[in-house]
Amino acid sequence: MLTRRRLMTGALVAGAYAGGMGLARRFGRAAAAGAATVLTARPGEASITDGGPTRGIMTYETDTAGPGGLPPVLRMRRGEPFAARLDNRLDEPTTVHWHGLRIANAMDGVPFLTQPYVYPGDGFDYRFTPPDAGTFWYHPHCNTLDQMGRGLAGVLVVEDPADPVFDAEIVLNLRDWRLGGDGQFIAQFRPRDAARAGTFGTVRTANWRRVPQYDAPAGGLVRLRLAATDVTRILQLVVAGAAAEVIALDGNPVATRFPLDRLMIGPGQRVDLCLRMPDTEGAIATLGDVRGTKPADLATFRAVGTSLRRAVSDLPALAANPIAEPDLSAATEIPFVLSASAEERPKDGICGSLGYNFWAINRVPWADDTGDPTAPLAEMKTGRSYVFNVENPTPQIHPLHLHGLAFRPMNSNRQAVRPGFSDTYLILPDEKVQLALVADNPGDWVFHCHIIEHQKTGMTSYLRVA
Ligand code: C2O
Ligand code: CU
Repeated sequence: MLTRRRLMTGALVAGAYAGGMGLARRFGRAAAAGAATVLTARPGEASITDGGPTRGIMTYETDTAGPGGLPPVLRMRRGEPFAARLDNRLDEPTTVHWHGLRIANAMDGVPFLTQPYVYPGDGFDYRFTPPDAGTFWYHPHCNTLDQMGRGLAGVLVVEDPADPVFDAEIVLNLRDWRLGGDGQFIAQFRPRDAARAGTFGTVRTANWRRVPQYDAPAGGLVRLRLAATDVTRILQLVVAGAAAEVIALDGNPVATRFPLDRLMIGPGQRVDLCLRMPDTEGAIATLGDVRGTKPADLATFRAVGTSLRRAVSDLPALAANPIAEPDLSAATEIPFVLSASAEERPKDGICGSLGYNFWAINRVPWADDTGDPTAPLAEMKTGRSYVFNVENPTPQIHPLHLHGLAFRPMNSNRQAVRPGFSDTYLILPDEKVQLALVADNPGDWVFHCHIIEHQKTGMTSYLRVA
């Protein structure tokens, strides 16, 4: 058995290989408790294609900016206060939503529902203590097709002091860009695609680079944190050239690890993999997406140094997050039907309405971008258990996301559901599934499809916990 000390030594070595990532992770956490990180949202340019800089990018920056304009990976610790001041240098309003974090409603970043717009030149102080460890992400909740499409989506890591130590850690922000041949943005969507699977990007990236390569210790165990931050694309992930096991989904450790084999994840979802690097120096493992007609490589990992000869079975279990178990015997059932909307007419709105309604939940299309006093779709009592009976009679897959609460999917008629809590469920066409939860976080929580065109053309609502 490997001792913790040996693994720790490996981690420091790997830090050097991975461009100082390990060291920065352990010693470079910017803010001492209480000091706010300044998170600046700003316009800019970035090198995404070979065709010269892409103009009209939007990104986040802290004092430790990510490479190449990429929004930085924000790191915090489970159970420790975190503070960030959003400084809006864009020329439009924005907010920050902390996807997957079960924090106070006032910090959830949804304009009209939980906070006012943050206008250009203004700021907003976000303060919270993340209750769960894992891989999450952050993005605006305002004019999102444009703001996220142009770059505003970063990965957020909540560490647990009891996390097993890996030989290296690599975080990948997986997303596409809608760019023309000249490397400049083209229209973010086409209405006929918004009414189907969504409008796909033209350039695929990991950490804003096309098939980047990362070095990691030969024979070592790498924690690969993947976040699907694209506005449209659903991925089916494979790793070639190395063994890869799924250790966490949507921030929560899986009950039993399993080999990665065409795992499907939608926008908003995260996967943590334990990648066992090849033993031979120079050998390369490849992360790919095999969904659809054009399979793509997303990133590669090159083995460096003498093999550390680890075994995936050396890895201790990740600690479960403290999520309350729903009481199914006392749960109230609530039906939700995802549907196409008959009202295919332009709709006025601010904060980035797309001007169409194509989708709805329980027949109510809500584009989440108006200040209309729309009523919550359901009300739940604080502390009670609920089971959502969700049906998808549409021909599209929908990554259905709930803010502020974690649910346990169960009893699907279409797929074997893995036991474990999540914040985003990828529901298949004609699927019926139950999402069980304890409504233990009071507030108004948005419940929407994370294919942003679906969200912005009606497949949004919110639920009240009081
Ligand atoms: Cu990623 Cu409404 O959220
Ligand atoms: Cu959808």
